[in-house]
Amino acid sequence: MTTSSPQDALSLSVTEAAMRSFGTASNPRLGEVMALLVKHLHAFVQESHLTKAEWLQGLEFLTASAAITDGERNEFSLISDIMGISSMVDVVSQPVGGTPSSVLGPFHNHDSKVKPNGSDLTEGQAGERTWFKGRVVGVDGQPIPNAELDFWQNADNGLYPAQDPEQDPHNLRCKIKCEADGSFNLLTIRPHPYTVPTDGPVGALLRASNRGIWRPAHYHVIVSAPGHVGLVTELFPEGSDYIDNDTVFGVRPGLVVPFVPSHNKAVAERFGIETPFLEVNFEFCLVKAN
Ligand code: BEZ
Ligand code: FE
Repeated sequence: MTTSSPQDALSLSVTEAAMRSFGTASNPRLGEVMALLVKHLHAFVQESHLTKAEWLQGLEFLTASAAITDGERNEFSLISDIMGISSMVDVVSQPVGGTPSSVLGPFHNHDSKVKPNGSDLTEGQAGERTWFKGRVVGVDGQPIPNAELDFWQNADNGLYPAQDPEQDPHNLRCKIKCEADGSFNLLTIRPHPYTVPTDGPVGALLRASNRGIWRPAHYHVIVSAPGHVGLVTELFPEGSDYIDNDTVFGVRPGLVVPFVPSHNKAVAERFGIETPFLEVNFEFCLVKAN
């Protein structure tokens, strides 16, 4: 490689030395990832002519992010989300042929209760009743038996239980074991757009950048089945506000679905629904694990 100035030569040797310094890692993958990270971060410093003041500001941003991070709140995940890094990781790790994955977000809980297929999650709360049904299939279109859904969403006020002391911590979330034919269904409510947390350094960065703070309405679903690659994804109601302007870049073609008026009298009767309600139908496609 040719260099055009003594400063270029100097920076090149710093970059090479820093990259090589990770060659001693016991885990070769750690060595590879760290060397590449150093390479691209150094290129960024060089290309942007980053000043010392800007670099210090960056460190202060990370320090403030650490200060606000605790067991409940992770500002670093949010940094990854609003920079599109979480979504890029989804894109590059996506197995070919399955339903696209999307961001996990900060409101997933591991302790959701397993409820019978066909459960009613609404429990008298406000919100447009929505019958969510579908199947879990393989890339050959055949149903996958013994699949499990882990489902969560926000309430009619746009908040998740972790943000709203009025809500039961288990509100509008559950795990569902699908049927042998891959089918599942549950009664829930229509989700709502909401803003990412803006009371920390990420909020300040979004404001300084004149960026949006909203996510379109969505359901979160993790789909798992024996012998298949697990899927973390989201479904977005067609026509939701912010569908073209998701501040965490989670919307993908194939994940935007129609929420249509339902005329299914049997379902209305089963759940005791007396008002008009919606239905949404989705087929989750899982790829076989190697
Ligand atoms: C969410 O979908 O809940 C979410 C995702 C990324 C950042 C913040 C919230
Ligand atoms: Fe969410």
